[in-house]
Amino acid sequence: MEKKYLFSPGPTMLPPEVLLKMAEPIMHHREPEFEKIFAEIREGLKYLFQTKNEVLIFTSSGTGAMEGAVSNILSKGDKAIVVRGGKFGERWGEICKAYGIEFIPIDVAWGKAVDPKRIKELLESDPSIRAVYTQASETSTGVKHPIQEVADLVKRYEDRVIVVDAITGIGVFNIPTDAWGLDVVISGSQKALMLPPGLSFAALSDKAWKFVERSSLPKYYFDFKKELKNTKKNQSSYTPAISLFVGLRESLHMIRKEGLEAVFRRHEKLAEATRRAVKALGLELYAPDSPSNAVTAVKIPDGIDGEKLKDLFFEKFGITVAGGQDRVKGKIIRIAHLGYYERLDMVMVISALEMLLKGMGYAFELGAGVKAAEEILMK
Ligand SMILES: Cc1ncc(COP(=O)(O)O)c(C=O)c1O
Repeated sequence: MEKKYLFSPGPTMLPPEVLLKMAEPIMHHREPEFEKIFAEIREGLKYLFQTKNEVLIFTSSGTGAMEGAVSNILSKGDKAIVVRGGKFGERWGEICKAYGIEFIPIDVAWGKAVDPKRIKELLESDPSIRAVYTQASETSTGVKHPIQEVADLVKRYEDRVIVVDAITGIGVFNIPTDAWGLDVVISGSQKALMLPPGLSFAALSDKAWKFVERSSLPKYYFDFKKELKNTKKNQSSYTPAISLFVGLRESLHMIRKEGLEAVFRRHEKLAEATRRAVKALGLELYAPDSPSNAVTAVKIPDGIDGEKLKDLFFEKFGITVAGGQDRVKGKIIRIAHLGYYERLDMVMVISALEMLLKGMGYAFELGAGVKAAEEILMK
């Protein structure tokens, strides 16, 4: 019998409640019934992003909202700081380049978090910097960046904003948009929102909206001002992914029912169990100092082929885990635990890891990882 499980950091596994809603016959997006759903979604997103402002929704993958956070925030001649600690940090730089924005990269060693001191120095030495682009959780390395500290630095300046790619942060750990003074917060549907890929989100502060007002870069589909006007009427500018919106209402409802605090605690527990388990197997974490609760990146021990291990997960158990990207291809595997995951899911994936490593000749005591995970999960 074949059974499949996703333990990749997006797309993630989906709750049956959401799947069933999305299977309902499609409705038209200009009908009052859809507007009612839209209105509920607006409230649910404000709760999730912890903001009083509107959260924009685009029919695109997360990168769409990232692009919009450059083309709507900056103007010709503006300069930006880009935190580059992995593949997604690099993406901020690539988008800036595409729009002709000069940026100063802060190249952070992969597996490490950015040092806010470096950002402070740059902000103080270069008055032409208008924005800091960073990740909350750098999915390619499993690192959590110190967003609150960076926000505290940027907050001092009326003419500078912090833009946070929280695609694997929102709904995983606490990112209170308003309370921390985050100016733009981005997310995507196929992560902790427990939906298929296809929606991206952007929450903007009042300060960020002032930047939008003066932005002179070209934009069309990802036009934040136009989208805001329509959002307030429970409409999207163009045909939205209607079935995903219907699913989103359900997943937001599930998140609210569980409660944000409980959602964060659950992710903390699953992540901690995973970290303890792999360490109990004698494996090393790739991001030991500042791990993200979205995904655990594990170093592949000497003598084990990392790509082979990833492939065997699928061949033997139908489990998709993520390998390493780019310079860490074959050197790490990434086990995700964001979204629709519970305690026993982690026991399963750790057990599979143990069986595979044993089969590949890696020496350890069978059951050590599962035991370590259980000790956390029982608490
Ligand atoms: C931190 C982060 N940023 C950006 C993206 C890109 O999102 P998408 O593939 O939905 O465009 C991802 C996707 O994995 C991500 O994890």
